[in-house]
Amino acid sequence: MKVLLTGSAGFIGGAVSRRLLERGHEVVGLDALIPEAHGAGAVVPEGTVLGDLREPRAWEHLLDDVDAVCHQAAMVGAGASVADLPSYADHNDHGTAQLLAAMSRHGVSRIVFASSMVVYGEGRYACEEHGLRSTGVRPVADLEAGRFDHACDLCGRPLQWRTVPEDAPLDPRSSYAASKLATEHYARAWVRQAPGDATALRYHNVYGPGMPRDTPYSGVAAIFRSAMERGEAPRVFEDGAQQRDFVHVDDIALANVLALEQQGEGYRAYNVCSGRPVTIAEVARVLTGREPTVTGEYRLGDVRHVVASPELAARELGFRAQVMPEDGLEDFRTAPLRG
Ligand code: UD1
Repeated sequence: MKVLLTGSAGFIGGAVSRRLLERGHEVVGLDALIPEAHGAGAVVPEGTVLGDLREPRAWEHLLDDVDAVCHQAAMVGAGASVADLPSYADHNDHGTAQLLAAMSRHGVSRIVFASSMVVYGEGRYACEEHGLRSTGVRPVADLEAGRFDHACDLCGRPLQWRTVPEDAPLDPRSSYAASKLATEHYARAWVRQAPGDATALRYHNVYGPGMPRDTPYSGVAAIFRSAMERGEAPRVFEDGAQQRDFVHVDDIALANVLALEQQGEGYRAYNVCSGRPVTIAEVARVLTGREPTVTGEYRLGDVRHVVASPELAARELGFRAQVMPEDGLEDFRTAPLRG
């Protein structure tokens, strides 16, 4: 299969590219090398064409003889401030819309693309007595008082986390999350109108060799690694008991290849996760080999727990993570970072 891979110069795009080539596929890379992701002075890797999705005239000829598109290009991270809103909309919403329209012009009807668990907002919660409960944003007064867990709206008891299935309500809480959900909406509309075939892969917390260093757009694994390199203890917010699912970049690449190789129809979305949740305090411990400083501080946009169900991806894509966080995070302690 010949695949146009957007974002091929990035941390995840690079891993997808290697995996596709290993499986005997042909890859044409496209990347705009945006400074937010690559820093200044990045060089275009071999096999990648420099081009911005928002300007299709420069790159759409690449679609002439491809079988499918694998779309990883995006501005990532939580969004440092509302000042970032236009950039997320521009790169992620507009860029994806241009890509989908160009695919139709060139008769390419299949796309696998990067979405994120951030589309869910908060994870899923249940009360021991009242079962599943929906949650809003945690009140600042609770966070100030060190009450980090959501409380049951009926009895006030702390809620317990449950795994999030793909049909959970979608509730984006940041500009990045809004742009990822918009990407899903555009792809869903395109599937009906083109018609085409689209698979959204909702990545959980990705880590692995080549992860960009600590920036306002980095996830916590890179932040802890960078703290370690500076000889500082990792700073864990809240009480450190918040749960996430850390998934290795090689597994993200595997999920993409499996989705591309599958003959699908219509629109599908899958959680891509390890299925082995860990607390942030544990991540800090494994990654740095030392006791973290648990600060009790909080970030207003943060959600408490997001832990996904890996079952649908296992059943329909045949995807099961190969690298478990206890091994992968240990290896990541000494893995090279980029930037
Ligand atoms: C992260 C990404 C999000 C991505 C998602 C899935 C960022 C900023 N967030 O969301 O874009 O879609 O994974 O891959 O890239 N924390 C600390 N100390 C720190 C920094 C963070 O304790 O120095 C805590 C946070 O309070 C939070 C947890 O670590 O509870 C995870 O933070 P982070 O990795 O930034 O964001 P996610 O919400 O998991």
